[in-house]
Amino acid sequence: MRTITRSVSSNTRGLCMSVRTKRLLAVAAAGLTLVLLASTPATAGASQGGAFRPGAPGVGDPYFPGYGNGGYDVAHYDLNVKYVPATDQLTGHAVIRATATQNLSRFNLDFVGLTVDGIWVDGRRATWSRSGQELMITPARKLPRGRIFTVAVKYHGVPQTFTIPGTPILAGFMHTDDGAVVAGQPEVAASWYPVNDHPQDKASYTFTVTVPAGLEAICNGIPLGSHTANGWTTWRWAELTPMISYLSTATIGDFRIKRSFHHGQPMILAFDKDLPPLLADDALGRTAEITDFLAGKFGEYPFEANGGIVDDFDKLFFALENQTRTVYSKFFFDETTTTGETYVVAHELAHQWYGDSVGVQQWDDIWLNEGFATYAEWLWSERLGEGTPQEIFDFLYDQPLTEDYWAPPPGDPGVDQLFDATVYVRGAMTLHALRMTIGDADFRKVIRGWYARNRNGHGSTKEFINYAERVSGEQLDALFQAWLFTDTKPAYPGPAAQRTAAAPTAVPNVVRSFDKRYAAGWR
Ligand code: TRP
Ligand code: ZN
Repeated sequence: MRTITRSVSSNTRGLCMSVRTKRLLAVAAAGLTLVLLASTPATAGASQGGAFRPGAPGVGDPYFPGYGNGGYDVAHYDLNVKYVPATDQLTGHAVIRATATQNLSRFNLDFVGLTVDGIWVDGRRATWSRSGQELMITPARKLPRGRIFTVAVKYHGVPQTFTIPGTPILAGFMHTDDGAVVAGQPEVAASWYPVNDHPQDKASYTFTVTVPAGLEAICNGIPLGSHTANGWTTWRWAELTPMISYLSTATIGDFRIKRSFHHGQPMILAFDKDLPPLLADDALGRTAEITDFLAGKFGEYPFEANGGIVDDFDKLFFALENQTRTVYSKFFFDETTTTGETYVVAHELAHQWYGDSVGVQQWDDIWLNEGFATYAEWLWSERLGEGTPQEIFDFLYDQPLTEDYWAPPPGDPGVDQLFDATVYVRGAMTLHALRMTIGDADFRKVIRGWYARNRNGHGSTKEFINYAERVSGEQLDALFQAWLFTDTKPAYPGPAAQRTAAAPTAVPNVVRSFDKRYAAGWR
């Protein structure tokens, strides 16, 4: 499902033609050209959409040019997989429903490692070839623009585990002693199903996961029950709100599942049976409360289910905001009930609004995910009485430039520093600097409106800046230039009178929590 990026006027004084108007004019002009071309005999055979051509092998993301594909738009993934932990073998049958967005002679999916056993397009055998991450599919019949088609792919093999670039830290499809943890960013989905693997193409999902009886398979969204026969249990789940591929999970293990309802929505908390209940039950038990707190700040919770997963896996060092079902490292929790453990829950829940419902347009927009999620931790800190956002900002602002969160500037961190501390901390500081500049009331309007208008869609840094300018009526280019794109420490924002009388000298709890998670390998 590709959402049309909503454009906003790039100028608060309204001197220029808005981007939207320009785009509408361009579309109108293109339509005119098509009509003219269609009526000329030379191109009549191709009908609308020009000649039949292969879809592009990538969406053109500046950081990951090969991610995703062009020429079609996926609406739904119906994933049917069987996993055998003893042999690490996965057998899959994926049925993908998509719409051609150009006349297609062939198209690509992203798929890594596993062996393809057969591909059918609209029920007819298709041919394929592979090169790196690209699975190139030639359907028996060409696909005209606008055609809704299905691709069925049968496959098997041992899913490949990724490592986070530049580190030995595992990510993606991670094999555990009794199953698998499936969580990664940006790479995970293509290692267990064929996919249009870029945030720009959201889709709904249904999951059917078969595992040895006695194990559980936890996916996103709503539980549709399980049945057991002949030593196998099949678990079914549905995530019907559009989801970005990297947020899908099928985490398998021996879990103690706590089921409840929150405002009528399923709340599914899964804890590895090997973990003591004292470890994470307390912090994850606050999921409903923290969700409601954040909904008060950001707007209505985006999805139809909620929950979290904690596996007993020694090589998982991060959390990932899988839609409706965050996967958490067990290392973020301890056996005492402390507020420190709740910050990561607030962080991952905040991603449900910013990151999951409002996705990045391109991977260089990543600070919009991590800056918002980190800022949500600061809001939660205030609620806990452990420091206000202003106090936390002042504490961080006073630290020397040698602190790793100052560099590089978070607006364009580069592929190798996509998840550096700056994207989180200086990203959150950018939001607070905006708040100090435009005031609390307009800031609230900006963060709520950004979610409301981009819900189930995407947003880019440029659009965010334009939107903040439009809401506040202020020219904010210099502010964002300084905070997001300039190497030096930005000037202290807003009227100096807003500064906390004496910036805290003790490290705020939320900063301590972040540092601890970050040191554990959280990136
Ligand atoms: N986005 C995750 C979070 O903020 C952390 C993260 C960054 C991550 N890079 C990752 C998780 C790579 C898994 C793989 O909670
Ligand atoms: Zn995050």
